Amino acid sequence: MKILITYFSQTGNTEKIAEAIHEITSKNHESYLKRIKKVKIKDLDEFDLVFIGSACHDSDLAKPTLRFLKKIPDSPKYAIAGFYTHSTYLPEGDDRIKKLSEKWSGKCNATFEELKKEKNANFKGYFRCQGIPSLPIEKFIHNTIIKDDEEWAVFIEEVKKHPNENDIENAKKFAQDILNEF
Ligand SMILES: Cc1cc2nc3c(=O)[nH]c(=O)nc-3n(C[C@H](O)[C@H](O)[C@H](O)COP(=O)(O)O)c2cc1C
Repeated sequence: MKILITYFSQTGNTEKIAEAIHEITSKNHESYLKRIKKVKIKDLDEFDLVFIGSACHDSDLAKPTLRFLKKIPDSPKYAIAGFYTHSTYLPEGDDRIKKLSEKWSGKCNATFEELKKEKNANFKGYFRCQGIPSLPIEKFIHNTIIKDDEEWAVFIEEVKKHPNENDIENAKKFAQDILNEF
């Protein structure tokens, strides 16, 4: 198979996930790793499977990724899988955590899901994990989302460790499962 992993990453978190996926896909396939700005939509036609990754910005996939996804034609010949990193809560936890997660990264999931409904794409699912925030984003999250100092201390200590080894292994498993399905 011919596989492309393309991604938007400003501070390197999503790039780490892209590299982990590429490590798996390049074992037995012709696999390419490219930043999204280097890829034209018509280039995708030569691939069987395209992984599209992004940082989460303003609760959704980052703008360059959104613009890229919009250009994907209806019923693309290639299968698509998604991945993204974000710096707020994962959806695991009580109702408040779930709501915060939905508010601050839920659109990323919805945007990927739309590829199925709106583009009739063969969408293989998405992978997500947390990523260490840049300092301004760290301040924004503390000032706006997690204001309680005790809760913040626990949260930021943990989120700064991501993507960690476990995230990398999970991303590899995500890629391997998709390959096995083909
Ligand atoms: C402008 C901007 C907006 C962001 N908005 C969100 C957000 O709404 N929700 C969230 O969970 N993380 C948000 N983040 C944090 C990033 O999604 C997170 O740090 C991500 O791992 C960065 O990926 P990268 O290193 O590949 O660029 C934002 C980051 C930036 C720079």
